[in-house]
Amino acid sequence: MTRTVQHELEEIKSRGLLRRTRVINGRQSAHVTCNGHDVLMLCSNNYLGLADHPALAAASIAAIEQYGTSSGASRLVSGTMELHERLERAVAAFKGSEAALVFNSGHAANTGIIPALVGKGDVVFSDRLNHASIIDGILLSGARLVRYPHNDHTALALLMEKHATEYDTEHATGRCLIVTDGVFSMDGDIAPLAELVALKRAHGALLMVDDAHGCGVLGERGRGSAELLGVGSDVDIQMGTFGKALGSFGAYAAVSAELRDLLINRARSFIFSTSLPPSVLAASLAAVELVQTPEGDQLRQQLAVNTSFFRNSLAEAGFTIPAGTTQIVPIVIGPADTTMQFSEALLAEGFFAQGIRPPTVPVGTSRLRFTLMATHTLADLACAATSVCHVGQRLGVI
Ligand SMILES: Cc1ncc(COP(=O)(O)O)c(C=O)c1O
Repeated sequence: MTRTVQHELEEIKSRGLLRRTRVINGRQSAHVTCNGHDVLMLCSNNYLGLADHPALAAASIAAIEQYGTSSGASRLVSGTMELHERLERAVAAFKGSEAALVFNSGHAANTGIIPALVGKGDVVFSDRLNHASIIDGILLSGARLVRYPHNDHTALALLMEKHATEYDTEHATGRCLIVTDGVFSMDGDIAPLAELVALKRAHGALLMVDDAHGCGVLGERGRGSAELLGVGSDVDIQMGTFGKALGSFGAYAAVSAELRDLLINRARSFIFSTSLPPSVLAASLAAVELVQTPEGDQLRQQLAVNTSFFRNSLAEAGFTIPAGTTQIVPIVIGPADTTMQFSEALLAEGFFAQGIRPPTVPVGTSRLRFTLMATHTLADLACAATSVCHVGQRLGVI
């Protein structure tokens, strides 16, 4: 019997997992208007506050005036504009890679890159907590998916030994890929990249790092988790996004010139989609430039100060915060319904922290995922921490 849409929605609702969009009026900044109320934004990935930075807006407006509003086609037809290539050169210089390729989004990058690299008969080793778009990319590729326990390079080493003989060399490329988030999006911890580099060397594998949450933020110059851990040139594919700390939209792969050519020829999300428009490219280019200036340094420093203040405030109030130092600060509540009650109660007090539920996180680990911004003030964050503490006590979470 066909399951009706209504029945399916009711079933999602009965599990406490029905999701709705919430409308933000006006700009994405530290204080926003949400459903008509002023609230402090505590769940945006706009970590450096660049989404409403005048330099990005001015670059976007100028690009529309100069180049119009659309690229008009996919990259391989007639949609490669000079701005695409300027942005790619800027990303390669920023990341210290030989070349770079721009994708339409992080999801499009992961679902394009992975199937371009590996296919049926190949093996991909993927951290158990990797982002959904990585999993989607692996599933699309048809390669064998071997998940390793979160950040456990010792377990990964054993799994790589075990699966070393399993390649289907007749059909496969013979490539083996290790893929990990750089900063885990829902937990805020950082992958052990030095150890993963050693393993990829030992097994002749490729290493891909999705640095959606590290780019612009981590490392002395904001180049991301690979810069922080001193392994930049050892990562074969550094993927990152423009839609988070960089305040724009889209994604990139920082790679060798050879890999760039392969992606151009094989990545279906690159080949079969209209390319990003000039306004978006110009904002991304302005952001890549800005994060390398003293203003970028200052924003990163402020973000670090805000992060440690908020992490310490919650820890002192009795919350258990998973170890880490990044701007992503989860408090794991467990049940989905309590998590959503917590989020609603905070919103009523003027603080917007979205509850995160399965399938985004494993069942039983629903959480509030706080994200810090350089544009928060310490006074904002002190009020937020007090409110989180009161609501937590009321709900019996602490
Ligand atoms: C780790 C990670 N990778 C990829 C993506 C997808 O990027 P985009 O939003 O640009 O599609 C996200 C989040 O959106 C993410 O958190």
